[in-house]
Amino acid sequence: MSEFQKKAAYNVALVGATGAVGETFLNILAERNFPIAELKLLASKRSAGKELTYDGKTYKVEELTHDSFEGVDIALFSAGGGRSLEYAPSAVKAGAIVIDNSSAFRMDPTVPLVVPEVNPEDAFKHNGIIANPNCTTIIMLVALKPLYDYSKIKNVVVSSYQSTSGAGALAMEELENQARQWVNGEKLVVDKFAHQILFNVIPHVDSFTDNGYTKEEMKMFNETQKMLHDTDIKVSATCVRVPTLSAHSESVTIETVDPISPDKARELFAAAPGLEVIDDTANAKYPMPLEVAGGDTCYVGRVRTDIARDNSLTFWVVGDQLRKGAATNAVQIAELFVK
Ligand code: A2P
Repeated sequence: MSEFQKKAAYNVALVGATGAVGETFLNILAERNFPIAELKLLASKRSAGKELTYDGKTYKVEELTHDSFEGVDIALFSAGGGRSLEYAPSAVKAGAIVIDNSSAFRMDPTVPLVVPEVNPEDAFKHNGIIANPNCTTIIMLVALKPLYDYSKIKNVVVSSYQSTSGAGALAMEELENQARQWVNGEKLVVDKFAHQILFNVIPHVDSFTDNGYTKEEMKMFNETQKMLHDTDIKVSATCVRVPTLSAHSESVTIETVDPISPDKARELFAAAPGLEVIDDTANAKYPMPLEVAGGDTCYVGRVRTDIARDNSLTFWVVGDQLRKGAATNAVQIAELFVK
């Protein structure tokens, strides 16, 4: 057992404490009874002095600076890539393990990218920073892993149905505000998305790249290869924003080397950690974001043999992207080091 693991409790800093993911982090650390000695809540200057509660106690938010990390054991970053690039090295210098929720370090070959249900062993190869994968990728990988262990997967075609909270707390509010504005006959205010999100779907998550895919879609391609240590697996994603508040849904089709029957897939899914099957179409039972939001489990359903291609399987997976897709996954990574 390392010196780090011998500690009874840890000094934890949360960077981006006032954001949508930050708030979820606080709930999850408390729910999971994470062994915290001291907690430091960090955000921008704008939020300095603001009070947040954790586990019944009130904490004052402090401004993030390069000196914020003295004595910190674990720094959870969720304040955007720019802040991670600028401040994570200071946290590492101060001796903290950084678990970074942004995309800043994900494809850095010296930084492990980890989903504890998929590749926990990679976490221990860190040099101070461990990256938390993209939320849509985490949810897909939790479902792909048990199938991949049974038969190599050649390619994945996935369409996502991503909730507004994936774009931040203010984006979720924008949907709620547009609903209120519509009911009141007011002009709808569009700010956080390229178009009105109420009564709409927007096939545009993150910015477009030269190959026609968005950055979000390319994250699913690149991060899947990195976590499975398999540069042969190809992922073609179409990421779509839909007018839901929480939880991302994904329609996934995979082509495997060996065939996997729907029954076998359901058996593999049911035995996998962090995953449950809801697949009772006769009774209209399948996973839906309204029911999945607020939990840490990912749910699969609509499992069927794909009729368009050989050795192919189609299914539907839903997970709360603020929890398993972000904060829960990051806290689970931290737990690998404290047990
Ligand atoms: P703040 O509330 O002070 O702006 P979300 O993803 O919900 O938009 O949240 C983003 C998080 O990142 C918030 O906690 C936000 O703090 C924080 N943040 C944004 N810019 C900075 C900055 N320059 N320094 C520190 N924290 C920042």
